[in-house]
Amino acid sequence: MPTFMEPFRIKSVEPIPFLTRAEREESLRASGYNLFRIDADRITVDLLTDSGTGAMSAAQWSALLNGDESYAGARSFRRFERVVTELTGYPEVIPVHQGRAAERILFSCLLGPNWVSVSNTHFDTTRANVEAIGARAVDLPGLDSEFGGDLDVAALRQLLEDGAAVGCVVLTITNNASGGQPVSIANARAVRELCDLHGVPLFLDAARFAENAYLIVERDPAYHGVSPREVARELFAIADGCCASLKKDGIANIGGMIALHDKELAAKCRDKLIISEGYSTYGGLAGRDLDALAQGLLEVTDLDYLRYRAESARWFADELAKAGLPVLRPTGCHAVYVDAAELLPHLSLQELPANALACALYAEGGVRTSDLGTLCFGRVDPNGGPDEPAPRELLRFALPRRVYTRNHLEYVAEAAAAVAARAESIPGMRIVEQPAMLRHFTSRLEPLSSAGVG
Ligand code: F0G
Repeated sequence: MPTFMEPFRIKSVEPIPFLTRAEREESLRASGYNLFRIDADRITVDLLTDSGTGAMSAAQWSALLNGDESYAGARSFRRFERVVTELTGYPEVIPVHQGRAAERILFSCLLGPNWVSVSNTHFDTTRANVEAIGARAVDLPGLDSEFGGDLDVAALRQLLEDGAAVGCVVLTITNNASGGQPVSIANARAVRELCDLHGVPLFLDAARFAENAYLIVERDPAYHGVSPREVARELFAIADGCCASLKKDGIANIGGMIALHDKELAAKCRDKLIISEGYSTYGGLAGRDLDALAQGLLEVTDLDYLRYRAESARWFADELAKAGLPVLRPTGCHAVYVDAAELLPHLSLQELPANALACALYAEGGVRTSDLGTLCFGRVDPNGGPDEPAPRELLRFALPRRVYTRNHLEYVAEAAAAVAARAESIPGMRIVEQPAMLRHFTSRLEPLSSAGVG
């Protein structure tokens, strides 16, 4: 069948806002040209993130009513724990309110000042949590195009042989910062071997474990026909444990977890959990959240659902390419990434092409995307010199799970075509106010042209 379609029908709907161009331009000015700072009721199609923005199934909504809100040992926790252990094989399951809480707790048990965490790429909050401990986050992305999420094994070997104080290796599946590309089973195994040789624990940042598993089924001939759930299990089995934001592949609006083999490490994590997140059987979540997550974790490995995720991302990438945008290929599942520097060659990287493009798209059609370029990943010079640009200047069109139909995405592609047609007139951006860390969330910017973003 040439046409894929959403493998669900819609039972509950929510209106979306339509604004005039003048209203959108006013929103941009008022927000300091930072789309995080624009209220959602001023966004027409929101592709800012696939995190916590998914639509729950009827089964998840009904699971909410079964939530057991007991402080300790709730039935909801036991259900969550059972589903997670069956999926991952890890017996120690610790719920947290979202991924970054898992990162903070796990890393503070594994790392100390001047230790090193190595990853295919630390996501922004992951890096921030490593650095907050005084440790160093080292990214070693690989180069394989089919498995663009792989970690550079030769570079890891070198680092370990040089005697770096590596406290953990973290494989981010899929690798969000490098285009949502999967990590291959072979790469995970090779990393495991090196970790074993040097006595370093290996963890997964498993936020998009199901999408990674599906992409392995598609791209690795040895896994054609294997169920995504089985592949996911195999990935989990390679590592010592995982931390995860369940706002992605848990298909719920909030939640996260740490899941481990090691009882002692789990006990340390629980001690820290209780100080800031909550008791060990709820970790900052309501009982009903745990029920929705348990159900979501069962649904997310469904083959038809994952095929729809991958097919819609591919189709949307083709539409954006037809619209004149340089898209990154192959596409993953959770987003389509566009090379903003290539579309806007008249801007230097310090002029933040990804942010400039994001603002132009919002002005055009009320479409919200996210900047994964220098504003997000660039290194700020503590001595006030120019920023060290990010390796790539990407704009991400994230795809919330089960939320937007092909029509919504066609509208986005039309807005993108209008923006691409006037690419050379899009002005660069300048930061006028920024915090010390994670500046993309709150900084204020202005266009380098008095004519605005046009
Ligand atoms: N790890 C990865 C790979 C992520 O993509 C994210 C969040 C986190 C950890 C942190 O999880 O938000 O639950 O605390 N990514 C979101 C995004 C925010 O838009 O990609 P969290």
